[in-house]
Formats: sequence, structure tokens, C-alpha cells
Amino acid sequence: MKRVAVLISGRGSNLGALIAAARAADYPARIALVIANRPDAAGLALAEAAGITTRVIDHRPFRGDRAAHEAAIDAGLAEERIETVCLAGYMRLLTPLLVGRWAGRMLNIHPSLLPAFPGLDTHARALAAGAKLHGCTVHLVTETMDSGPILAQAAVPVLPDDDADRLAARVLAQEHVIYPLALALHATGRPARSPAPDARLLNPLPDASARP
Ligand code: GRF
Repeated sequence: MKRVAVLISGRGSNLGALIAAARAADYPARIALVIANRPDAAGLALAEAAGITTRVIDHRPFRGDRAAHEAAIDAGLAEERIETVCLAGYMRLLTPLLVGRWAGRMLNIHPSLLPAFPGLDTHARALAAGAKLHGCTVHLVTETMDSGPILAQAAVPVLPDDDADRLAARVLAQEHVIYPLALALHATGRPARSPAPDARLLNPLPDASARP
């Protein structure tokens, strides 16, 4: 049973999905700690309601000293004997300090089919590019943003009347499916790049077989 910390900055819906999955007796990880870099992160209430230890480690008092902020986070992780870190809407770029310390043990969820659309505003950018498929990716965190080894992906169709919000909602529903799956696979020691994709992670388009 891996002890997992989830780092958030806001809403925390992926945190909620991880908490819900980890309630299952046979889930191989326990959400032991939630750290937010903002005291007003709504996800903190979700964690508190679930009886999970929370910490606010606000970046602002560190006045731009990213290394010192990350050292405080790392100390918090050590105090709770954390083994795996999940970034879930954590809106701070990490330095090599924390990334190196947690190499191979830090996951992130990103709202696009990486390597397409790293960075921000992924849904609007997918629409502007005329993408017909969009989706989400869980990957290991490396020093280059949104580019580590991919653990799981789910694809959704881009529909003709989509705007960024509608598309984001369709993607988010899949984020809540694949993040718990990817964490479980990671916690049980499956390789990051499996030559034989797990059938549960394949997400065919709805009605794909019925289309001409
Ligand atoms: C998600 O879309 C995630 O992919 C991205 O930030 C968003 C966080 O949403 N990294 P939530 O806080 O989990 O609801």
C-alpha cells in the first residue's frame, strides 16, 4: 500500500477521483497527504472531509525562492513518509530539485494527448488547431514540462459544436478515470512504457463501431 501525497492548487476534482478510488480495499495506494500551495484551494475541503491530512505550503512568503518552497514541500512529504507524489492541478513549475528528488515517483495529469499541446489552454488550442481527437495524459514528471514517460491516456472526440468548456468537461470525465488507473499501475510496479497496453486504459470512441 503506497503512501501517496497529492499536490493541488485549486478545484481538486482529480484529487476527489483519487480519494474515491483509494477507498476500495484492494486499491494499492492510500492518499495520506494533500498539499496545496494556495490556502483557498477548494480541494482542501475535499481532503478534510475524507479525513486526510492537509498542509498549505503557500509559495508567496518564499518571495520567488522556488528552491526554498520546494524544500518545504519535500520536508512535508518526508514527515508523512510519502512514497509517491501525484500532481493534480498543481499550478507551479517545479525545479530540478524536487523533480530530481522524486524522479520516477512523481506523476502528473495533463489535459491533452501529449505530446500534443503541452502547457496551458489546451482545450482552446485543440479547437483552434482543428483537432478531431483530444484527451488527457498521465505521465511521470521530468525536468521538461509535460514530457515525461506516458503512463496512461484517454481520447475523446472533438464535436462540431464544442467550445473550450464543453470539451474540457468531456476530457475531465476521462481524467477522473485514468488518473486512478495510472496510479494503481504505477503503485503495483508496472513499467512506465508497457509494450502491451492494458485493455482498461484503451478508451474507444463511443459508437465507433457503428460509424461508416
Ligand atoms: C485538470 O484539467 C488537470 O488535467 C490539469 O489541471 C486541471 C485540474 O483540475 N493539470 P482539478 O483541480 O483536478 O479539478
